Amino acid sequence: MSPKIHAAITGTGHYAPEKVLTNADLEKMVDTTDEWIRTRTGIRERRIAGPGELTSEMGTRAARRALESAGVAPETVEAIYVATCTSDMVFPSTACLIQAALGAKKAYGFDLSSACAGFLMALDTAASAIESGRIRTALVIGAEKLSSVTDWTSRNTCVLFGDGAGAVVLQASDRPGLLSSLLGVDGTLADFLSIPAGGCKLPATAETIRDHLHCIHMSGRETFKIAVNTMLEAAQQAIARAGLTVADINLMVPHQANMRIVEAVAKRLGEGVMDKVFLNLDRYGNTSAASIPLALSEAVAAGKIKRGDKVLMVAFGGGLSWGGAVVEWR
Ligand SMILES: CC(C)(COP(=O)(O)OP(=O)(O)OC[C@H]1O[C@@H](n2cnc3c(N)ncnc32)[C@H](O)[C@@H]1OP(=O)(O)O)[C@@H](O)C(=O)NCCC(=O)NCCS
Repeated sequence: MSPKIHAAITGTGHYAPEKVLTNADLEKMVDTTDEWIRTRTGIRERRIAGPGELTSEMGTRAARRALESAGVAPETVEAIYVATCTSDMVFPSTACLIQAALGAKKAYGFDLSSACAGFLMALDTAASAIESGRIRTALVIGAEKLSSVTDWTSRNTCVLFGDGAGAVVLQASDRPGLLSSLLGVDGTLADFLSIPAGGCKLPATAETIRDHLHCIHMSGRETFKIAVNTMLEAAQQAIARAGLTVADINLMVPHQANMRIVEAVAKRLGEGVMDKVFLNLDRYGNTSAASIPLALSEAVAAGKIKRGDKVLMVAFGGGLSWGGAVVEWR
């Protein structure tokens, strides 16, 4: 019998647009205050892509950095998985545009839409392809230009979101990397968090544009409660499936939606867990599918992760959808 093939993260990279939108800036746009946003969400500022700066460009920049850090040439990449809900166009997929920009001549690729849980869905999909022996090197990218689907007249949502991208290189390995991965959805709660128009249900009309239906709509309070319970359960199951306990986790990289959600999950996971959480949501807000790889890459750059560390990632988002994964750092 041939030895088991594992999937390991061998490189990380991220990119965030230069333009910073602070809470003070938002005070001039909608009826809100810096104090309200900070105490309710933990967010101080977010990045906003320029008009011509596309999801594919941000994804490409993050991917280039991830390839560099892994020491992998673009020609070696066999598959590109892009998690996004703000692709450049309905089709071709953003993965195709990134493939061309990178010159990843041998790679196939596609986009995967699962809102804020998208990156963990893509990581699991890429890992399955590697573990099956079908491919050996993949790029897994989360990239979002949420500013293009944000209702800038709604204080309920516009204070929460931002733009950015993160990427990892995932490669075949004879030693374990991805120790566990757990995914789930509950489509009965689809209406809690959605972009109602722009699909076949509500193609663009003057009315859909007038009513801001091409923007993110959210039931904040309901989403909050479910997010805490679901992320907690996903984290606990991912840790158990990895054959570990909470004490074995060196760093937790949660989806960066809201400080209060993260604190509630960490507190329920156990004493001292909050000290192991990597946070950058104060500077980026919620960047949906880009959130975890952006945070993971920043954590690596800041020297917060060392070889052998067990890193827990956990996400929750529209769908509703969620995921949890534990990786051993290589
Ligand atoms: C959105 C969220 C921050 C709102 O916080 P909250 O404590 O639940 O606030 P509520 O929705 O109960 O609103 C409280 C009040 O603040 C007001 N409010 C909402 N947004 C505001 C803003 N940006 N500035 C000032 N006031 C605001 C509301 O209108 C409401 O006023 P009212 O009591 O007069 O009706 C919170 O529900 C949340 O984080 N939910 C999860 C969202 C999320 O992360 N979604 C993505 C998951 S991937």
